[in-house]
Amino acid sequence: MRNRITERCGWLAIACLLAASALAQRRPVNPVSAPAWLNKQLSPDERADRVMAQMTLDEKIGLVHGTGLPGIAEPVDAEEAAAQLHSNGGAGLVPGIPRLGIPDLNMADSAVGVARGAFRGRYSTLMPSNLALGASWDPTLAHEYGALIGRELRDQGYNMSLAGGVNLAREPRNGRNFEYLGEDPILAGKMVGQYIRGIQDQKVIGDIKHYALNDQETGRHVANVNLDKRAMRETDLLAFEIGLRDSGAGAVMCSYNRINGDYGCENDYTLNQVLKKAWGFQGWVISDWGATHTTVKAALAGLDQEQPGRVYFGAALKKAIESGEVPMARLDDMVHRILRTEFAVGIVDNPSVTKVVDVFAGMEAARKVAEQGSVLLKNAKGALPLDPATVQSIAVIGSHADVGVLSGGGSAQVDPPGGNVVPQSKREAGNGGGELDALLGGPVWFPSSPLKSIRALAPEAKAEYNSGDNPAEAAALARRSQVAIVFVNQPSSEGRDLSLSLPGRQDRLVQAVAAANPRTIVVLETGAAVTMPWIDQVSAAVEVWFPGISGGEAIANILFGKVNPSGKLPLTFARSEADLPHPQVAGAQSSMSPISIGIGDIQIPQPPPFNIHYTEGLKVGYKWFDAEDKQPLFAFGHGLSYTTFEYSQLRATGKEVVFTVKNTGRRAGAEIAQVYAALPAAANEPPRRLVAWEKVTLGSGEARTVTLKLDPLHLSVFNVAADGWQLVPGDYRIFVGGSSRNTPLIAAIKVP
Ligand code: BGC
Repeated sequence: MRNRITERCGWLAIACLLAASALAQRRPVNPVSAPAWLNKQLSPDERADRVMAQMTLDEKIGLVHGTGLPGIAEPVDAEEAAAQLHSNGGAGLVPGIPRLGIPDLNMADSAVGVARGAFRGRYSTLMPSNLALGASWDPTLAHEYGALIGRELRDQGYNMSLAGGVNLAREPRNGRNFEYLGEDPILAGKMVGQYIRGIQDQKVIGDIKHYALNDQETGRHVANVNLDKRAMRETDLLAFEIGLRDSGAGAVMCSYNRINGDYGCENDYTLNQVLKKAWGFQGWVISDWGATHTTVKAALAGLDQEQPGRVYFGAALKKAIESGEVPMARLDDMVHRILRTEFAVGIVDNPSVTKVVDVFAGMEAARKVAEQGSVLLKNAKGALPLDPATVQSIAVIGSHADVGVLSGGGSAQVDPPGGNVVPQSKREAGNGGGELDALLGGPVWFPSSPLKSIRALAPEAKAEYNSGDNPAEAAALARRSQVAIVFVNQPSSEGRDLSLSLPGRQDRLVQAVAAANPRTIVVLETGAAVTMPWIDQVSAAVEVWFPGISGGEAIANILFGKVNPSGKLPLTFARSEADLPHPQVAGAQSSMSPISIGIGDIQIPQPPPFNIHYTEGLKVGYKWFDAEDKQPLFAFGHGLSYTTFEYSQLRATGKEVVFTVKNTGRRAGAEIAQVYAALPAAANEPPRRLVAWEKVTLGSGEARTVTLKLDPLHLSVFNVAADGWQLVPGDYRIFVGGSSRNTPLIAAIKVP
């Protein structure tokens, strides 16, 4: 615009320039005069370069930090207060540059749905927990899940998601395992990859987090995690590597903890060397909220954006740039990464148009995931499914199953429509003590009543509810009923770890009910794995995790066989904590000292710094149980169906595995057929690893030949000396079956 006006202006150039700049300010962007960087034909990198050529130093600095916690903490000064006016209500905001057509970045936590919208009067779909999605082992479903979240983010005016958690369940008591995808790096990586791709396909920037090894919540701000490079690359980092490769996620959130001495957000090895150099990541590294600790060190180690404030990447970074401590080229790299991602994902060209969320589509999607992700753990003598034609009386006991289902807490918390259906006073004892409890509150129950859905599917039966508060009364109801369904729960939230035991007196409740009624079915609403000292006394157990807004309906559909369960465990269920690699969670909460971490005006007390040595190394989850020859309660990959499957005719090479699965029962069903590999002895690996799987849906009596390609990465080991992946030549064995501990087919292969 400016050029065209000056051409026509001739000798009146100066006056015209003034006019042009006034015009440019009034109409920064329009289809006729759009600046070059708004030309969609150019590559995202070119567009970023062109816009950067117009930017001032202050504008660049403005893109590499957040603006506090709008709505949660008071702004630190007038500048922050003014910036916060651009907030859409989410956890993060980076104001854009209107004169250049660069939009505000409005970010929301959205692991299981767009978090915390109630204060703006917004509704979002609560999806089942990420671990429930992980239990579906279905990347296509993960894409649908992500797409729903992406759509709802856009509908609510956000253009960036803070979801995509993929820390491995190395520590099964990690209070955030419900936000992650289990213990296997390949399964978790493939699932998170499609989940983030689903989000980004809606033209919303996706984020993968928490990079890396933030595998427990206890002491997350102060713990130094120690793990050797090979183990790191083959476990947690592999999940990120696959997730990034499959999704093209725009952002990577670095974690609170230290990794081998350096904080996650100032760790040259994980950020510069691995993420940016080895994996070729082109997006930007965003700090977890309050995880930045330095200016120069963090900037040079690869951090690109501080959140949520500007303690280190505001004036302090500007000073470091001006003094040359941080080269201008590094700031340009940060800004380029952010802008090229905005162009690549499409948020500049496609501003979100707010509209009402499609509530019913969300409920459908949530129900489907809950049904596909529920795992039938035990089903003795065909106790399930229940037959509505013959069942006359049902005792429904515990976990507020009369009114709702449990959701996960912390920054992932979605607000329930109409509020928590279990008022504060009724919340279970034994919760609390977590870092964020004071800020965010206790467990939140969503209005999806299992009791109501059970009654709807068995209208002729008498279904009665008992709270389970008094085990003797619950047992009395169970005794006079044909079937007893006990609901147990384990609230979990960011900021605190768990015990493997169900909280409160729930184990005793199950035992009392099981003693009163031989047909006792347990429904578990837990964040992750729990122990089940009563398992031999009950007929059936179904793990439904945190099942989302349609949880009640999904649970009833499974109990009555309207849906044939097909989920498989994405993490091992141990018999006892003594069987875990670290029998105690390091650094008990009780050792808290006055050290605090501050976000805005909020101070969070911290325990003194401590080390965590992940001495199990490569042996995460089932690999530990296999290597140590420990019998799990339920193995990784385990999950039953109302039908049965038979495996046969295995043929394997180093490139593909072919086998047949047959449905040998009377119902249609789906089997997640799993392929494990044992590497040659020279590889020095745990006994076996998951290398491929497929969900096979079969009618009664139907058989299918399944061909699965083997990705060389899945068979490789990380060679630290060569700093790369290596396929170890030698004799491999391939195992195929329905769980990591049930692989009826075995073949030997040679890799040259
Ligand atoms: C969590 C992140 C989250 C951020 C913003 C942090 O406490 O660890 O997962 O995205 O807060 O809410």
